[in-house]
Amino acid sequence: ERKILVARTAGFCFGVKRAVEKVYEQVNMGKQNIYTYGPIIHNEEVVTDLEKKGVRVLENEQELKDLMEGTVVIRSHGVPKEIYEVIEEKGLECVDATCPFVRKIHKIVERESKAGRHIIIVGNDTHPEVEGIKGWCEGPVTVISSHEEAENLAFSEGEKLCVVSQTTFNYNKFQELVEILEKKRYDKVVLNTICSATEERQLEARQIACEADTMIVIGGRHSSNTQKLYEICRKECENTYYIQTLVDLDTKPFQCIGCVGITAGASTPNNIIEEVQKHVRIKF
Ligand code: F3S
Repeated sequence: ERKILVARTAGFCFGVKRAVEKVYEQVNMGKQNIYTYGPIIHNEEVVTDLEKKGVRVLENEQELKDLMEGTVVIRSHGVPKEIYEVIEEKGLECVDATCPFVRKIHKIVERESKAGRHIIIVGNDTHPEVEGIKGWCEGPVTVISSHEEAENLAFSEGEKLCVVSQTTFNYNKFQELVEILEKKRYDKVVLNTICSATEERQLEARQIACEADTMIVIGGRHSSNTQKLYEICRKECENTYYIQTLVDLDTKPFQCIGCVGITAGASTPNNIIEEVQKHVRIKF
């Protein structure tokens, strides 16, 4: 029988898995008027399946304010403090699926900004997680993501800083930006709040790709973390394929040889990974 290695870290990370489960829990409890604040995950199939079960996506704060009743699920990225306030004022039920690792950052920035520190978030300014973190700062906050932005930061002598990172930020780049800040000799607290889920998934993908003769990477076309996984695997295993669903295996040239490795990006549900695994076992 063909040897198939499926990455343990393939697909949903802990926080996303937990958030998706929480939405299904609400559905299974038979609740009506369930909403998620933004899509629960960047995966159309999951969002569509939830829609069929009556779960609707709120696209912005106004849509939340227009609600009269119902349950609002906050996704793993978290939200600014004021969103909780709106939910409470409106008398809506709140199901908080903010990833505990993100929640920890909220608590840090709230505490440190109350203590008078200027918060520096190393991350992507337009990412919802960063939007959420900003919304817990009680004072000034600056988001940086490039060397240039770090170089250009200029505060007065006595300024106190607290530096945190978006959970999915690249670790090496975070270190580099922190080094630039080190040179400036501000009074600062630096907290590396990067989550290890992405890195672990990448490490395991590399290990499996080294062993495999055929490597399959599953994930959305626009998913940047899946693209990264593909690059990593391709380096170790020339016979690597990037697919979105198992249909791609039948419609694209696919050379299934030797030991097959399978991994998947962060927004790929488990059932798709299992389907691909079964398909490979049965058909090739
Ligand atoms: Fe996932 Fe939470 Fe980390 S959502 S990537 S486990 S911060």
